Amino acid sequence: MNLRLRISQIRKSHNGDRVLDDCSFFFEQGGVYVLTGPNGSGKSTLLRICALLERPDSGEIAYFLGQERLEDNIFLRRRVTLVLPQVGIFNTSVFNNISYGLRVRGAGRSEIEQKTAEMLAFSGLTQKRGQNAPSLSSGEKQRMGIARGLVIEPEMLFLDEPTASIDETNTRLIEEMILEKKKQGITMIITTHDRAQAERLADKLLMIRDKKLVSVPA
Ligand SMILES: Nc1ncnc2c1ncn2[C@@H]1O[C@H](COP(=O)(O)OP(=O)(O)OP(=O)(O)O)[C@@H](O)[C@H]1O
Ligand SMILES: [Mg+2]
Repeated sequence: MNLRLRISQIRKSHNGDRVLDDCSFFFEQGGVYVLTGPNGSGKSTLLRICALLERPDSGEIAYFLGQERLEDNIFLRRRVTLVLPQVGIFNTSVFNNISYGLRVRGAGRSEIEQKTAEMLAFSGLTQKRGQNAPSLSSGEKQRMGIARGLVIEPEMLFLDEPTASIDETNTRLIEEMILEKKKQGITMIITTHDRAQAERLADKLLMIRDKKLVSVPA
């Protein structure tokens, strides 16, 4: 596991308005990068671009394995995952939601059972395995979303506001999940409005200021 991401001179406009201008950064393997910035400053846009879900107008997204530059293809896309707040919850059980990524990748039954059970335990949702996902509380939904992103064992995980409108208990649980995965060497790029949370989690603090990505001294 040694996936690194370099973004160079990223520019992006939405409807003619420049959102990101000349954003450059090198995300090294391992550790937690936390991105803050006011509403509408382009955090989610930058995350989608990094996760290869949206193209910049100009600039370059380059993933590296060691020194080797990777092509943008399905193998690379399997290594990176973006988790959005409470988006795309399927109207089926928690188990089926979490195992979704394994099923679309054609995993076998026992692998699906084992890895999903692991993620249910990791997210504290073992008791909720058979519950219909839309009926979960918002904190549980958020934990489920992270479990669903992690089940395919990505090397880079992007979390867009993982604790927005979540109570203290669930926020703590989610922060524990993040710190546990960090120990396993996954690189994470997380957006948050919670400055105290940013300081708790971040190895490196980043901010979008005047459309540019800047490093904030700890
Ligand atoms: N698909 C889109 N189409 C048009 N405009 C968009 C689109 N996505 C984002 N924008 C605009 O780009 C700007 C940046 O939005 P973005 O969601 O990236 O900001 P953000 O920093 O994540 O904000 P927040 O803190 O509220 O989540 C906003 O003005 C937004 O309206
Ligand atoms: Mg956002």
